[in-house]
Formats: sequence, C-alpha cells, structure tokens
Amino acid sequence: MIIAVDGPTASGKGTIARALAAHYGLPHLDTGLLYRAVGYQVLLAGGDPDSEADALAACAFPPTLLGDPELRSEATGGLASRVSVHHAVREALYERQRAFATQEGGAVLDGRDIGTVIVPEAEAKLFVTASVEARAKRRYLEMVNSGREADIDAIAADLSLRDERDRNRKEAPLRQADDALLLDNSDLSAQASIDRAIALVESRITPRR
Ligand code: DC
Repeated sequence: MIIAVDGPTASGKGTIARALAAHYGLPHLDTGLLYRAVGYQVLLAGGDPDSEADALAACAFPPTLLGDPELRSEATGGLASRVSVHHAVREALYERQRAFATQEGGAVLDGRDIGTVIVPEAEAKLFVTASVEARAKRRYLEMVNSGREADIDAIAADLSLRDERDRNRKEAPLRQADDALLLDNSDLSAQASIDRAIALVESRITPRR
C-alpha cells in the first residue's frame, strides 16, 4: 500500500506520516528533507538558491548531509522552499522519490506534491493542514522547548511566506489532490490527529460492503 501525505509547513504531516508508517509497518520518506539538503548544499557551496543552475548542481549533495541537524532549521526550510521552485531540481529528485514509493510492499511519503505528482496512484492520500496561528504556536513551542529563542509573530510571518511560495509556484504547487482526504488538525492534539489519520486511511482501504 502506498500512502501519500501532503500539506503545508508545520501542519504535523511528518508526525502523521511517521505514525502511519509505524502503524502499517511501512518505510517512510520525508521528501522535504531532500529539498532541505539541496537548499543547504547550495549554501555550503556558496551558490544562490534562486539560481536554477546552482540549485541543480546541489542535487548531487553527499548522502551524509541528510543526517545533518542543520537541515531541520527554519533557515534551511526557507532555502528548501526557494530551491524547490526550479523545474530542474524537481526533475532531479523525482526518480528517487518514485523508486521509494514503488518499492515492494509499499511506503508512506510526505511532502507537497506526493498525491498530485509523485504517486498519483497512491491508495490513500491525506491532505493535512491547520491554521497559520495553530502551526506558528506549535513551531514556537517546539523551538522554546528545545532551548532556542523564538518570536511567534516572526514564525507566523515566515510560515505565511512559505505557504504562499509553495502554493503559487508554477510547477507542482502545494494543493489538495482531488481524491485526497482533508485532515484539518487546528484543534486536535498530536495523538487525536494520528488517530484520525489512521481512520481516514482505513476508510480508503477497507472494502465497502
Ligand atoms: O516539509 P518541509 O518543511 O521539510 O519542506 C521544505 C520545503 O521543501 C517546502 O517549503 C517546499 C519544498 N518541498 C517541495 O517542494 N516538495 C515536496 N514534496 C517537499 C518539500
């Protein structure tokens, strides 16, 4: 079974995708991490994330980079969003995601265009979202709890900017696939949102009587 989980930044799609993978015993790929690695590699190489040629060259990032904690930072998220608008970058990362999705036994992938572009044939598709306020608050608490300084208004502004860029780019914009089930978790705890996600996937894979 292939499960596609798409949604905006800090919507909780990663937590949900990991929980679904554990529940169904499937491998999981966080595709945002690939774009983050490309964005960070551009920075390391002294390139410009808005240059398609520099971003394409960075797609050959060393595999060890995927374990670098810097990939998880807000700054790297912004770089990822910028390099992800380039056609050549999306093309360079396509096969890797496709091969993961179509491996024997199935997989769970989360990102922005999994249900629309990477695996349109996925058996179950979820579109996970939450209000900007709810997402900013979560990101803020995450940062403060890990001992970092944070400004909730700056986080909200940054999330809105990234939403805007991800939704309005020409290629593979963030959007809910026609056959994706919507999970708005603005008012749900992480556990309630996971339970709901499992129920939604079940509704897709349990044969109707
Ligand atoms: O999910 P994330 O915050 O780690 O993603 C970082 C950026 O990568 C996001 O702003 C847009 C881009 N991205 C994408 O274009 N397509 C994907 N499938 C995953 C991420």
